[in-house]
Amino acid sequence: MIKIGILGNGTVGSGVIELLKKNTEYIKRRSGTEIKVVKVLVRDKEKHQDKNISDIITNNIEEVFSENPDIVVEAIGGLHPAYEYIKRFLQLKKHVVTANKDVIANYGDELSAIAEENGVNLRFEASVAGGIPILKPLQECLAGNDIRYIIAILNGTTNFILSKMYGESMKYDQALKIAQELGFAEANPDSDVLGYDAARKLSILSSISYNEKIDWEKIKTEGITEIDEVDINYAKLLDCKIKLLAVSSREEKGIYAAVRPAIIAKEGFLGMVDNEFNGILLEGDAVGQMFFCGKGAGKLPTASAVLGDIFDVIENKKQKPMFMRYEEAQVNTKWSKKAKWLIRINVKDINDAKKILINKFENAYFFEDNICPKDELALLIEIENENILENKLANLYKESNISLIKKLVILNQL
Ligand code: NAP
Ligand code: HSE
Repeated sequence: MIKIGILGNGTVGSGVIELLKKNTEYIKRRSGTEIKVVKVLVRDKEKHQDKNISDIITNNIEEVFSENPDIVVEAIGGLHPAYEYIKRFLQLKKHVVTANKDVIANYGDELSAIAEENGVNLRFEASVAGGIPILKPLQECLAGNDIRYIIAILNGTTNFILSKMYGESMKYDQALKIAQELGFAEANPDSDVLGYDAARKLSILSSISYNEKIDWEKIKTEGITEIDEVDINYAKLLDCKIKLLAVSSREEKGIYAAVRPAIIAKEGFLGMVDNEFNGILLEGDAVGQMFFCGKGAGKLPTASAVLGDIFDVIENKKQKPMFMRYEEAQVNTKWSKKAKWLIRINVKDINDAKKILINKFENAYFFEDNICPKDELALLIEIENENILENKLANLYKESNISLIKKLVILNQL
């Protein structure tokens, strides 16, 4: 019998318990052994008294240690005390499966080394893109490839909000509230909406893909809090959608990595990824382009990934510890390829502003539709790279009374 300790009984922890219960017989046949949940750690025991696991619920971590579990599933989230608990279990030679990207993005290298020293597994498939198998395929099936780029939707909450704003004209606050009720959002949803959750996932995904450590704090991160109805209407006019993209690519020197809202083709691979679904488009030098898609958040999709990791541990599939020997990569933060951009600008006099802008951007196209407020101008430009764009815009502010509201890259070839 395999004894499992579960830290957390929220969306993920309760999903794991439910899935283990639902598929008891199948799991026993498949793994050849019985899996028994021996303790479940929560913060507030009172909240969990009426559930049918009340006899194994505890709010004392020492009770989980004293049960001597073979595998520990960490699903409490956040950095502390999750990091300390994972470390202690690994040092006690217990396998750990976690869904926690905060811990893995910050301490993945140290914890992987501790797991290796102690001859146990640290697995975290659920930490990136929920139910989509992506870390294991990258580490195993695609190991023979030099990964060239990753363009992905890695946060279910923001994708849900943007989908509702786009498809149902729902207000941002209402869509966020529903995403929270459905269990997609982090305990502090700022992590989702400000892009940090996607940045942490991009750091894990990219470090494994390029075999270089991509420090998540060096990733240029922009969330969706500034996206408004006007942006959405321009996207619609272009037959596109707005998505929060997590992008990384190998450049001549270093790795470009950013999380940013972008305008993308409505019918493309990623444009069709809506609600809590995530999508990962990548290219390997041998395999070419590949696309992974599925539910990136939610109870059972995430439990599916956790259970996959549990099976690997039970079946004693040894995995090369991730992160351990990665050199730190130079992280580039500016889009270096030729692209179109939607630029929204605050102006005093529209005709004057147009003359100045045509002078600065010869190929500027001005939208004639009345989508934006009166003191605003929106234009499309095509430019060699983001550095040139930013220099031109900086000069523009110095030379005139024009100020930028926002710039959104358009990737309508995806
Ligand atoms: P959640 O619903 O907020 O549940 C957290 C659980 O952990 C609760 O049962 C809570 O206890 C317990 N807990 C929190 N802090 C604790 C502490 N210091 N000591 C003891 N227990 C503690 O969170 P979740 O959505 O399941 O997320 C858990 C982890 O999975 C996070 O790292 C998250 O990023 C990741 N993840 C989530 C999803 C998703 O769809 N939600 C998907 C993939 C990965 P109480 O119930 O008593 O408050
Ligand atoms: N809050 C996360 C999301 C959960 O919305 O994608 C899955 O990691």
